Amino acid sequence: MTPAIPELEQIRDRFQRAVADVTSLDALRAVRNRFLNRTDGEATLAVKMIASRPADEKRAFGAAANALKKEIEDALAAREAALAAAAPATGAVDITLPGRVPLLGRRHPLTQVRERIEDIFVAMGYSVIEGPELEDDWHNFEALNMPPEHPARDMQDTLYLDARLPADARGRQASLLRTHTSGMQIRYMEAQAPPVRIIAPGRVYRRDNFDATHTPMFTQVEGLVVDEGISLGDLKGTLNAFAARFFDAAVKTRFRPSFFPYTEPSAELDVECQGCAGKGCALCKHTGWIEVLGCGMVHPAVFEAVGYDAERYTGFAFGVGIERLALRLYGIDDIRMFYENDLRFLEQLAP
Ligand code: DAH
Repeated sequence: MTPAIPELEQIRDRFQRAVADVTSLDALRAVRNRFLNRTDGEATLAVKMIASRPADEKRAFGAAANALKKEIEDALAAREAALAAAAPATGAVDITLPGRVPLLGRRHPLTQVRERIEDIFVAMGYSVIEGPELEDDWHNFEALNMPPEHPARDMQDTLYLDARLPADARGRQASLLRTHTSGMQIRYMEAQAPPVRIIAPGRVYRRDNFDATHTPMFTQVEGLVVDEGISLGDLKGTLNAFAARFFDAAVKTRFRPSFFPYTEPSAELDVECQGCAGKGCALCKHTGWIEVLGCGMVHPAVFEAVGYDAERYTGFAFGVGIERLALRLYGIDDIRMFYENDLRFLEQLAP
């Protein structure tokens, strides 16, 4: 050991304190600069001081100054290696960070209900068809046994178009927003010979208020079955099977006589209100029953309109309102919630 030289001891002290505080490679670089900088680093200057020492001290001072410089270099290198080992390399994955949860989209509740209805009928051998929302008078009314001036046209408040749209090959011109999907019965039968077994989901429009139970646009699923020997028993059996699958196997149903110009006889299907087990509550307007769909045996006038032989074929038809079923299924009392698209609401109805 060379004897301690006070100037060099002071530099060693300052260095040791400085390096002890270092927690980053940047800070370490600053310490290196302070002590080893070529022009005015503290250790560099110490080595340069050899020249100004008295002759008999030069050797010992030089050895001590160079030893200190080497000691500082080694300490800096060791510290740098330690810091580099602790810090993650640039671009490396920090597996201790919390994961990012992917945001999953969901199908809208009305889409889910539509698909549920479709699945039930597809399993019974039905095909799913779609058609235009801009409709002509023939398909929406006339071919459905509602000639001009027929009072049944007032059953639904129609939205007519201002625009004059090009006519089709038969000279029919879209003049309204379809008020129901029943026109799809006509469109399908005009294009296809019997037998028929279809459902037709889609949007429909009516001049209605926007309140808890009405929207000017809503969604229906139309159904149509035509073949030889189709009876009212087929209608009841099919729609009871549908209700059992859509709600649950034990649900009570009833067919209530009704009127639609395109069916004879006509009925509405009700299911017992499950909210109150038929006792009566706000959801079922205290009747104990919830109206599910309109239905009936296809009127011979409809077959005549599409050129089907009404002597040979019979059939049944039905129209389901999707929103109403969705309200019923989810126990919701305001139809507007389906259209406001508040994610807090929609996420609760996700499967
Ligand atoms: N079109 C009727 C409505 O919008 C529903 C309907 C009733 C459809 C009886 C049918 C049917 O096919 O046979 O209220």
